[in-house]
Amino acid sequence: MKVIITENYAEMSQKAAEIIIEIVKNNPNAVLGLATGSSPIGTYQNMIKDHQENGTSYKNVSSVNLDEYVSLTADHDQSYAYFMRTNLFDHIDIDQKNTNLPNGVASDLQAECDRYNKLLETLVPDVQVLGLGSNGHIGFNEPNTPFDAVTHPVKLTENTIKDNSRLFNSIDEVPRQALSMGIKNIMQAKSILMVVSGKNKAEAVKGMVQGKITPELPASVLQLHPFVTIVCDKDAASLL
Ligand code: F6R
Repeated sequence: MKVIITENYAEMSQKAAEIIIEIVKNNPNAVLGLATGSSPIGTYQNMIKDHQENGTSYKNVSSVNLDEYVSLTADHDQSYAYFMRTNLFDHIDIDQKNTNLPNGVASDLQAECDRYNKLLETLVPDVQVLGLGSNGHIGFNEPNTPFDAVTHPVKLTENTIKDNSRLFNSIDEVPRQALSMGIKNIMQAKSILMVVSGKNKAEAVKGMVQGKITPELPASVLQLHPFVTIVCDKDAASLL
């Protein structure tokens, strides 16, 4: 595990974007595994800036996202499909036909997870971007999710519903379920890039980097992956 500690969120975002841009420059057909949430927004902003200023092209890049809420359509402003369009896809030259997220309004959620798992057999991310839940979750793999889980419907924990309610008008509007890549899918990525900032993540960062490898802290599984880079600000790294 390589841990890069930065002064603040802005520097974290810059470093993380540089890593992704390098991968795309070296392989114009790269597959990017992407995440939503507050952590990667600055990274995506730096990728957009670089695209505009330096012309890095995503024309032949494909993407697979980690997860999506159940019950929100792709045009709902809290859906992860909407998040990805507004925070990244609409501002770079990626072909949106090559971008993929689980469909949270599929009539058969298990069949949708099966479709996504099949897709992930052919679209193996060159880099999987991750954020970290304050309880150590990655994707929506909450504590005690088995390490061999693949894409599956997830019941969100009270902790995650509370964390995510800041983006909704009220906590009652936060969906209670999501579809998420499993830990096994995440571990199949060729490399992993985690962005994490803030004091509220410090405990989870410590467990992930220095704690025992246990499903109780899903991110601890990353210790078993050969190519992981964690870019974290000094607040998130404060307990290391
Ligand atoms: C997002 C995702 C989640 C977030 C995590 C951290 O696609 O899968 O695991 O990465 O909840 O969220 P933020 O970055 O909002 O603190």
